[in-house]
Amino acid sequence: MSHVSEGLEGKNSRFDTLTAPTADERARQQFVSQLRKHIMVDMAATMRGVYTREVGPQVKKAKGREARNALEVRKAMLPNPYFRAWSALRYTAQELTWSSVLPQIERDLPKLVEAARASATAKRQLGSLRLDPAMQVPPVMLRQDIHLMPGGFHSEFQPDDVAAGAVYHHGTAVFAGGFTLRARGGGVAKSIAEYLKARDPDFKPKRLLDLGCTVGANLLPYLEVFPDCEAYGIDVCAPLLRYAHARAESLGARVHYSQQNAEATDFPDNSFDIVCSSFFLHEFSAAVTRRVFKEALRILKPGGIMVHMELPPDSQTDPYYSFYLNWDSYYNNEPYYAAYRALDLRKEVVGAGFKAAKFFEIRIPNFGTVSAEDFSAVARGEKEAPAHGNGASWYLFGARK
Ligand SMILES: C[S@@+](CC[C@H](N)C(=O)[O-])C[C@H]1O[C@@H](n2cnc3c(N)ncnc32)[C@H](O)[C@@H]1O
Repeated sequence: MSHVSEGLEGKNSRFDTLTAPTADERARQQFVSQLRKHIMVDMAATMRGVYTREVGPQVKKAKGREARNALEVRKAMLPNPYFRAWSALRYTAQELTWSSVLPQIERDLPKLVEAARASATAKRQLGSLRLDPAMQVPPVMLRQDIHLMPGGFHSEFQPDDVAAGAVYHHGTAVFAGGFTLRARGGGVAKSIAEYLKARDPDFKPKRLLDLGCTVGANLLPYLEVFPDCEAYGIDVCAPLLRYAHARAESLGARVHYSQQNAEATDFPDNSFDIVCSSFFLHEFSAAVTRRVFKEALRILKPGGIMVHMELPPDSQTDPYYSFYLNWDSYYNNEPYYAAYRALDLRKEVVGAGFKAAKFFEIRIPNFGTVSAEDFSAVARGEKEAPAHGNGASWYLFGARK
């Protein structure tokens, strides 16, 4: 029997069932999931082979040495026909991911908006929703549709809109649908929370904050591992938070959502035992990252932990894999991907005021894909996690206050 329960994220809330694809729409979504898997697994493996056998040796011949960084690999790969075909297909699959869920969401949006409104105005709520009509969405988010998602995270087309939340939530299910991780109850937040528990069984967090929580998909699983923890999530975009709040209430999860910028929150000093994020830091510049780390230090309690799951930085990957990961910077409207990956994270964390000795970085397996024993062995530093890629493992870093 698996050690992994279905968990909150594996469940469909009543709110989730307010939208459903038709049979044709579902077939299209399944096709897109499988197309993505083919591109990201089979074709990606072939492309690495093309580099190893053809392009890499050409670089070596021309330079008298191997490529030293992602940019050198990129320059060599740009004219390569396999890369060009792969890149075009990947871009297309990204667009198809979102467009495969749009018809269903356009049809069911009135029901979703109504349900979210009812949740937000209900007399009895488990958690809460606090929006800030004066919030300035960071300009970088207004300049392009982040990861090609139509309208980006912030757009609102009607009062109390939740469309961005719905497109993100259902679109990411298509995005990851070819990989079986969700079905196996794994996932990012579950893996991080289990890691924190395995690394320090006496750690009993009372309050947790997820930065850039989007629709809460990587917040809710913390509550399965730490059920007594009071959970908070912040994001700059209202349509995501309305959706997140309605979904959490419908699942019976107590989460306090508020519209805030992670660079400067209104939480008092020493408020949280955990300040965490997932897939968050690659969204902005190094200057913003520094302010986010400083703010995390301020609002963490002494002994509390800051933990971020992110793309592994350049220092953890070979030049080819760095080139591969940085694709999003050039073609997926993720302008800061490569800049984030080039950071010296230890330096940034220490620069924000954390003690150097308290910094940690580790690759952990996806909780759903290894045995409980292997997972604990990695958390204790006795074993290596599988290589990063396609959700097999996650890169974490952070520091204790
Ligand atoms: C890629 S998404 C994060 C995904 C989410 N953590 C998850 O695992 O499902 C990045 C999120 O960060 C939010 N964001 C970007 N800049 C922010 C900031 N300065 N403060 C708070 N949220 C921000 C965006 O609105 C978006 O929802």
